[in-house]
Amino acid sequence: MRHDLSTRATEARELMDDPAADIGMLEHTYRRFRLVNALVSRPGLLYRREIRPRARRGPIRILDIGAGGGDVCRMIAARLRRAGLDAEITALDADERAIRWAGDHDDGAGIRYRCAFAADLVAAGEKYDVVFSNHVLHHLTTAELDGLLRDSEALVGVGGVVVHRDIARTRFAYALYDAATWVFSGTLFRGSFIREDGLISIRRSYTPTELASLVPSGWTVRFGLPSRLELRWDKKARHA
Ligand SMILES: C[S@@+](CC[C@H](N)C(=O)[O-])C[C@H]1O[C@@H](n2cnc3c(N)ncnc32)[C@H](O)[C@@H]1O
Repeated sequence: MRHDLSTRATEARELMDDPAADIGMLEHTYRRFRLVNALVSRPGLLYRREIRPRARRGPIRILDIGAGGGDVCRMIAARLRRAGLDAEITALDADERAIRWAGDHDDGAGIRYRCAFAADLVAAGEKYDVVFSNHVLHHLTTAELDGLLRDSEALVGVGGVVVHRDIARTRFAYALYDAATWVFSGTLFRGSFIREDGLISIRRSYTPTELASLVPSGWTVRFGLPSRLELRWDKKARHA
């Protein structure tokens, strides 16, 4: 089926967001996020550009909003450990099923797992050096996106940064993901929502122009390969 990608498919809902979703399939989806993220999300870039330089100046605090299965946090924790750098990492998700699964699969990474919204951390006065998310923006309504950006700004200390990363909605991304996941639909991705939800996610995602038109001033939107969006905000001293 050829979908119209000229506008966001906001009416389409990811199966994993359904509270009644099959728990076995959901957990297999969290398990497979690791592979998908390693292939498309380029978490090493986030580590090298934003996390390592700050951690080299001293211990830092990192927050992952909408951490899902927690694999990006675990990858960052492993890299920091190998580099002998110190950080406290919090994986936050609004879905207790994700937090339970991620906590059960910490594998000694030492990450703090919390089932909460970013607004709860703002209310608690928490501050971080790096706040990020991956594949969360397209899940949100416009009002929720605005709330997330305001909360992210409030959660960052001076010298810190917010980086929200997501898919960019392009025909290329859809065709590539469709082909790649079709090949593995009977093996690696069988019994998970990876293929179906990934295609819905691309249809729900923003183009760079759409996202740039929605964000408050001070935020920058960047397009990256293979079909990625990066939304960034630096906390300069003037924001203190
Ligand atoms: C597609 S998953 C991405 C998980 C992970 N970041 C990754 O890249 O694999 C989106 C996650 O965002 C979570 N989420 C959606 N809206 C949220 C919000 N407002 N606050 C916190 N988590 C949220 C969902 O529960 C889900 O686990």
